[in-house]
Amino acid sequence: MRLSGKSALITGAARGIGFAFARAYVAEGARVAIADIDAESAREAAKCLGRAVAVPMDVADQESVTNGVAAAVDAFGAIDILINNAAVFTADPIVDIRRSDYERAFSINVAGTLFTMQAVARHMIERNAGGTIINMASQAGRRGEPLVAVYCATKAAVISLTQSAGLNLIRHGINVNAISPGVVDGAHWDGVDQEFARLEGKAPGQKRAEVDAAVPFGRMGVPDDLTGLAVFLATPEARYIVAQTYNVDGGQWMS
Ligand SMILES: NC(=O)c1ccc[n+]([C@@H]2O[C@H](COP(=O)([O-])OP(=O)(O)OC[C@H]3O[C@@H](n4cnc5c(N)ncnc54)[C@H](O)[C@@H]3O)[C@@H](O)[C@H]2O)c1
Repeated sequence: MRLSGKSALITGAARGIGFAFARAYVAEGARVAIADIDAESAREAAKCLGRAVAVPMDVADQESVTNGVAAAVDAFGAIDILINNAAVFTADPIVDIRRSDYERAFSINVAGTLFTMQAVARHMIERNAGGTIINMASQAGRRGEPLVAVYCATKAAVISLTQSAGLNLIRHGINVNAISPGVVDGAHWDGVDQEFARLEGKAPGQKRAEVDAAVPFGRMGVPDDLTGLAVFLATPEARYIVAQTYNVDGGQWMS
């Protein structure tokens, strides 16, 4: 029960990695606001976890962010921990990238992270009790990939925002760090696999099998491979870790 008495808001927590974070946080004693654009799945997730509420929220929409953060504060009295986890994937060669895909990805992955962080940081500063913010980066943010320019750029921006926000907010006792996963199996990867089938003419499942075989650990990650760090970063033991991005990727990337 390392998070007993704490309240967390986790974006994109209706499924996948965000849901695993929510489950782990509830198991450690926290109350969790499942903030997701998919309101129905968020409700089901909250019901299945207990000690959780669903907060319909589109991180790309300022009013929705403001209302979602207010709803979580109303439900729990305060937010101690924010995980900026919601994101979308997009892939295309440079010459085919559509401006609309670029704008959607930056709006959700980057602006969504920044302005949700801003809304929660304002609440934390007003409350004067510090807090924890964890942003979801990616190995895609560590280097470019030929067909994944936009998603890679959004995740590089998340790493940079984590550094700046970490340095700016630590004076208020708000600790900002990021987790950088490698390849984590789940619904997200169904979409990635489809994109590579389209772009590289691969058979369905082929890209997933290739990346699975290439991970030094011996397999792709599963969401529960990431929960240990997400819990640790929200405990007092992590207090002197500031503005860092941690790879949790089975040995994919060194930094
Ligand atoms: N799965 C991987 O291989 C992998 C690897 C590296 C990083 N990541 C990152 O980890 C995080 C979680 O990934 P995942 O695999 O669980 O993804 P996922 O696609 O399974 O889940 C994303 C969730 O975000 C929600 N969402 C999408 N747009 C939203 C919006 N505008 N507002 C609010 N919610 C929105 C979706 O409804 C969904 O519940 C993401 O930031 C992703 O970029 C994933």
